[in-house]
Amino acid sequence: MSYANSIATRRSAAPDRVRIAIQKSGRLTDNTLALLARCGYRYSRGRDDLVCFGENMPVDLLLVRDDDIPELVAESVCDLGVVGQNVLQEKNHRLARDGKPSALELRSLRYGHCRLSLAAPRDEPLDCANDLNGKRIATSYPEILRQYLTDIGADAKIVEFSGAVELAPRLGRADLICDLVSSGGTLLANGLVEVLCLMKSEAWLVRAPTNHADPTCRDWMTRLLQRLDGVMQVDESKYIMLHAPRAALEEITALLPGSETPTILPLSHAEDKVALHAVCRENVFWETLENLKKAGASSILVLPVEKMLP
Ligand code: PRP
Ligand code: ZN
Repeated sequence: MSYANSIATRRSAAPDRVRIAIQKSGRLTDNTLALLARCGYRYSRGRDDLVCFGENMPVDLLLVRDDDIPELVAESVCDLGVVGQNVLQEKNHRLARDGKPSALELRSLRYGHCRLSLAAPRDEPLDCANDLNGKRIATSYPEILRQYLTDIGADAKIVEFSGAVELAPRLGRADLICDLVSSGGTLLANGLVEVLCLMKSEAWLVRAPTNHADPTCRDWMTRLLQRLDGVMQVDESKYIMLHAPRAALEEITALLPGSETPTILPLSHAEDKVALHAVCRENVFWETLENLKKAGASSILVLPVEKMLP
């Protein structure tokens, strides 16, 4: 029985649960679990280390290889998935070519930043894209690379590797590699240098092309998404409080980054001044505070926002 099938079988045993496919161990795992925890999700880990069972929501996590996530979600074996854009694009390309539905993008999650790049041995660096003609490029991203080579009209040979791509030049199997670079440590350790970035990537939340059959599950998915938006919004939001001269209110309000209508409160014993409270949905930098002060604001306080429901 295939991997997807074995999970599908588990699914039919629990049709009233939401399934989310996440990377078992790797770049995205810790951040994904932390994000779900901030959405109020509590779980216990299954004995086989393949599933996390939700304790306070009918939501389970499937711990799988990241490369399997797009297909698991595209085939509706899982309802949601968290996967790097690079893996998503690569697999969706292939699914589309085979006439199969793709996993659908829901939200970028702003972590797991990396890039898919061409890298060459340090002692044989490349000058420009023209140099690619006749070269052998090792990669586990053949679809994205093929598309890129077609776009620039380069005639290079793609050598497919499923792992340890960085070893290919040393093994004499390729002249270049096309692989993920995050810190650059792997390239450095293998005597390779990055020569060209094909795409930037980060973690994405994806969804199945079909809706969950169970209305309670659909409701939980909506709630989870709403909480996720709230968590992501909170990271950038600040609550700002200050005293403002009535005369400068308009100027001061205009300086507040990404804020909705602020709350204006009277101050005792100060007719010409008011207190202003506002939620800023963008980062508040020192420059903003300095400009507010110049405009006449005083007693400026900036506080973190803990939870928010948009
Ligand atoms: C990528 C890539 C390198 C490493 C680069 O693998 O294949 O091995 O990460 O990261 P660095 O620049 O920080 O050294 P990934 O973690 O995606 O593993 P996988 O391909 O096995 O999923
Ligand atoms: Zn992988």
